[in-house]
Amino acid sequence: MDAKVSTKPHEMLAATLSDEMAAVNTLIRTRMASDHAPRIPEVTAHLVEAGGKRLRPMLTLAAARLCGYQGEDHVKLAATVEFIHTATLLHDDVVDESGQRRGRPTANLLWDNKSSVLVGDYLFARSFQLMVETGSLRVLDILANAAATIAEGEVLQMTAASDLRTDESIYLQVVRGKTAALFSAATEVGGVIAGVPEAQVKALFDYGDALGIAFQIADDLLDYQGDAKATGKNVGDDFRERKLTLPVIKAVAQATDEERAFWVRTIEKGKQTEGDLGQALALMEKYGTLEATRADARTWAAKARAALEVLPNHEIRAMLSDLADYVVARLN
Ligand code: IPE
Ligand code: IPE
Ligand code: MG
Ligand code: MG
Repeated sequence: MDAKVSTKPHEMLAATLSDEMAAVNTLIRTRMASDHAPRIPEVTAHLVEAGGKRLRPMLTLAAARLCGYQGEDHVKLAATVEFIHTATLLHDDVVDESGQRRGRPTANLLWDNKSSVLVGDYLFARSFQLMVETGSLRVLDILANAAATIAEGEVLQMTAASDLRTDESIYLQVVRGKTAALFSAATEVGGVIAGVPEAQVKALFDYGDALGIAFQIADDLLDYQGDAKATGKNVGDDFRERKLTLPVIKAVAQATDEERAFWVRTIEKGKQTEGDLGQALALMEKYGTLEATRADARTWAAKARAALEVLPNHEIRAMLSDLADYVVARLN
């Protein structure tokens, strides 16, 4: 094997789909511009040029290729999905008051919240223009639903934040909404435009749903265990934002009275002092909740892999299967 050829599944997918990914990137660059408001290209270029893994558009291209699609609309849909994703990131960083994204200062930090909200709206609108161009009402239905579901997930998370009653089922609802809805829409539309049988469309949806859940659980784990250099985001943000993610939920569920008082002070009341993040991590260690969370992520990755079984046996299917392992393996 050529030494330059990567064995990381998302890079293998990117290499296999490189011509189409290039077309997606060109389309993204063209459509993120604006002749009427210079702030828009400033903000979008800042975020888009920073890269990002482009996982979701790759999923759409992969699903279309796997299903034998021969047309051109998958490129538009892939760009649509990345625009929806980028819009939600702009809004999310305002809501989360985050300072770092894709290894760069966030747009809300470099410009301001107003710019992030309005440019995010612009990208949403651009995503709708792109998907309309496919002329498929079914595709519009899927992606419009996904956009609404993401917003619901973010709002549910906001109201559940700092509420120690948040349990694993609420967490799952949040994650399905804010993250998995776009993964599943990304894969589903690839099958829909290819016109494959409904059982296969459903399999693509199920794969995206489980992959998205595994991905977000892994992301939440990296918030405590990751390396800011590798993730491009700050460690400990979720704790500071008083978010109840899986490692904390599992620790709160087993807390002694004294430990519960710690969670009430830091998460519910938000009175955090230096050393509290370390104490939170110690409690997670004590109950093995980081390990248990990793096991949950693995379970969802296995569900994603299993969903692929009814799809055509194809090199892309094998890469999608490996990708499910990889989103969890980045935790090791
Ligand atoms: C970030 O998604 C938002 C989450 C769902 C955790 P990605 O990690 O895919 O972000 P980029 O696009 O690669 O920056
Ligand atoms: C990701 O949520 C944003 C969306 C899926 C809309 P998070 O807030 O958990 O992700 P990061 O850590 O900011 O990327
Ligand atoms: Mg965030
Ligand atoms: Mg968030």
